[in-house]
Amino acid sequence: MSLDAVLARIDDDLPAALERLMELLRIQSISTDPAYKSACDTAADWLVADLLSLGIAAEKRATPGHPMVVGHVDGDGPHLMFYGHYDVQPVDPLNLWNKDPFDPQVEETPKGKVIRGRGACDDKGQLMTFIEACRAWKAVNGTLPCKLTFFLEGEEESGSPSLVPFLNANTEEFSAPDLALICDTGLFDDNTPAITTMLRGLLGEELTITGPDKDLHSGMYGGIAMNPIRVLSKIIASLHDETGRITVPGFYDGVPEISDEIRAQWEQLGFDESGFLGGVGLSEKAGEQDRSGLEMIWSRPTCEVNGIWGGYTGDGFKTVLPSKAHAKISFRLVGTQDPLEIRESFRAMVRDMLPPDCSVEFKGHGASPASVMATSDPAFEKARLALSDEWPNPAAFIGSGGSIPIAGYFKSILGVDSMLIGFGRDDDQIHSPNEKYDLESFHKGARSWVRVLDALTR
Ligand code: BES
Ligand code: ZN
Repeated sequence: MSLDAVLARIDDDLPAALERLMELLRIQSISTDPAYKSACDTAADWLVADLLSLGIAAEKRATPGHPMVVGHVDGDGPHLMFYGHYDVQPVDPLNLWNKDPFDPQVEETPKGKVIRGRGACDDKGQLMTFIEACRAWKAVNGTLPCKLTFFLEGEEESGSPSLVPFLNANTEEFSAPDLALICDTGLFDDNTPAITTMLRGLLGEELTITGPDKDLHSGMYGGIAMNPIRVLSKIIASLHDETGRITVPGFYDGVPEISDEIRAQWEQLGFDESGFLGGVGLSEKAGEQDRSGLEMIWSRPTCEVNGIWGGYTGDGFKTVLPSKAHAKISFRLVGTQDPLEIRESFRAMVRDMLPPDCSVEFKGHGASPASVMATSDPAFEKARLALSDEWPNPAAFIGSGGSIPIAGYFKSILGVDSMLIGFGRDDDQIHSPNEKYDLESFHKGARSWVRVLDALTR
């Protein structure tokens, strides 16, 4: 039977597939840093060439930022769109990597072989699982399983600035698919595959507080002059109350309680809270009181300080009273929380807290609402069963703490629903030093897509 033949082809071709992934991983496609612009271009070219080799009409499409890679192939049955991103996060701090982040290696670990390198999981390894599934399908059957659109982005890690204009300018080309398949999420655990059905939204705010109009000697001016780092610290300290709730006025408007059905589903998953925290050297939950760990990550909104700086932070010591203090703050959003309203409310709250002589400047960094997938579409149950055939445990419908704004845009701009399937693991260290992707994720990921494609097109 052809499904078994395609799966066998994935197994036989694994060494070559791994070599292809390694090639892609060597390309330093860091989207946020202009120094890597040509590397992003090279990654796009690499993908175009790979899709062309599968008989897919693929091309690089220019945007004001990094190019999109778009491919179309005709076929019968449902029209599926595949999304992944070829850009990666910066590698700093480089000194915390054990090896060169762009010289990927297969490494033996106590839990099995892993592919180590920037983008190994997020998202080059993941997007190649789908492409490898297509390659094997084509090798065995001579055609791809159905009509397919490939949409590979190079700016996901920097907030997808070109995506919305690109989709708006090309709605006719991209609004036909019956379903978008997105490979940028994780397994529930090592043995349990997952379809992610809820994504949190994301609002990013950067603020600079200015006090004195120049840096001062903290002996000559300390005590009489307001220090903007003190002001910033007080503002940041007031963003959560003592029960862990966020204090921005109106912040909880549109935050729903999860349904009893979802609560029961999540309880059944038996999430190992202490194992999850223990894996990163922690033991106590820090969020809102009276919430389960999974609720905190999947269905509650957050406010986190991602960076804070000002004054002298170099070696040694300098008695400076700085002119400016800065912070980057992000909010994860759920339900129908409105990112733009929260932005305004947050900014008003900060302005209200400023003492005399201090001023604040804001820079917005992306504002996308949460999204919930249309799980009543029969494709979800078909895919769930297909994944369950590949992995030791049946597949779970899960939430995700991360954000993939694209899923929301596919729905709002194109009217296309998304299904999120991925094979990342909690310990993949995405966005961090020593990122990895388990060889098993890569291998079983490709096999999983074969099964899902088979289930959706049978
Ligand atoms: N692949 C991640 C999203 C993700 C992380 C999904 C963990 C599931 C589990 C994606 O590349 C990412 O990191 N997104 C950013 C948002 C983006 C707008 C910069 C994020 O979630 O911080
Ligand atoms: Zn990603």
